[in-house]
Amino acid sequence: MAHKTDKPSDRESEKPSKRALRVLSGIKPTGDHLHLGNYFGALRQFVELQEEHDTALYFIADYHSMTTVRNGVERRHNTNSVALDYLAAGLDPERAILFRQSDLPEVTELTWILTSIVPMGMLERAHAFKAARDRGEDVDHGLFSYPVLMAADILLYGSDLVPVGRDQKQHVEMARDMAQRFNRIYQTDALVLPEPYILEAAASVVGTDGQKMSKSYGNTIAMFAARASLKKSVMGIVTDSTPVEDPKDTSQAVFSLWSLFANASERTEMFARAEAGGLGYGEVKKDLLARLMDYFEPMRTRRAELEKRPAEIESILCLGAERARALARPVLEACRAAAGLGAPQR
Ligand code: TRP
Repeated sequence: MAHKTDKPSDRESEKPSKRALRVLSGIKPTGDHLHLGNYFGALRQFVELQEEHDTALYFIADYHSMTTVRNGVERRHNTNSVALDYLAAGLDPERAILFRQSDLPEVTELTWILTSIVPMGMLERAHAFKAARDRGEDVDHGLFSYPVLMAADILLYGSDLVPVGRDQKQHVEMARDMAQRFNRIYQTDALVLPEPYILEAAASVVGTDGQKMSKSYGNTIAMFAARASLKKSVMGIVTDSTPVEDPKDTSQAVFSLWSLFANASERTEMFARAEAGGLGYGEVKKDLLARLMDYFEPMRTRRAELEKRPAEIESILCLGAERARALARPVLEACRAAAGLGAPQR
């Protein structure tokens, strides 16, 4: 198990009812190819969490992509691509609820309900909005209220734990804050208070230049790329100019990337050789490329297979939407009732 917090059991002991913990997360379909940072930082843990918790929900945040992708054909393509990535990486519709955000337009109703209790100041402090404004970009309302839609995603399904990278922690805390406000204002317990489940590995996957691996730094290694392109990325990993015979600094990117694919004893051995001198970077890179190819080969194959069966993907997502709706309906009903919306209940 890569990373654990003691949160789940803490929460369980606090709770009088034995309701199964719900885990939820999503990926925005922006058309980026998944890279090692996405996999080791998020997806791999999604797969582990689906084994550990009774209810895991993973969705494709296509409404969220609307602030950047302005073409319907492109959005469908990207959405499908994330579905393939999810399944190829090992998310299993038997174990997790996999769905497309926009198949439950209910989430936009909850978004509206929440917008009426969110202070402007809270949204003005959101990182994504501040960054866009500081870059002098025109900010539309969608980007400004992005955290409200994200809160609705989380709260609609009564999520307890939200596995995300550090960059999304603030958003989950805002969701918790909104749930608390709503419950207090309308004197209800309709909304469950979620907790972020921080995936530390997300911050620690380094890119080919030694900075954090990120699309925006152009230092990524793609997960499903063909051998030639992977080879190019791996051979391009920046190293210092220590001669082969000298001891190497093992804090360099090439060693941490290699370590992602090695077990503890292999790592100890490799690092000892590096520190002794006589180990060339070329050898480490070649071995890294081989390990990388091996590791992702089964996923690559599965993805190529799935790509040929679009109807199957569609039915997985439709079934997922139905199951998600079964969880969402009572939550939304409770919110509507508390807020006095819709026909009065008998
Ligand atoms: N904002 C997230 C990201 O950019 C994606 C996302 C949307 C999400 N809604 C969510 C993640 C709800 C977790 C829970 O990565």
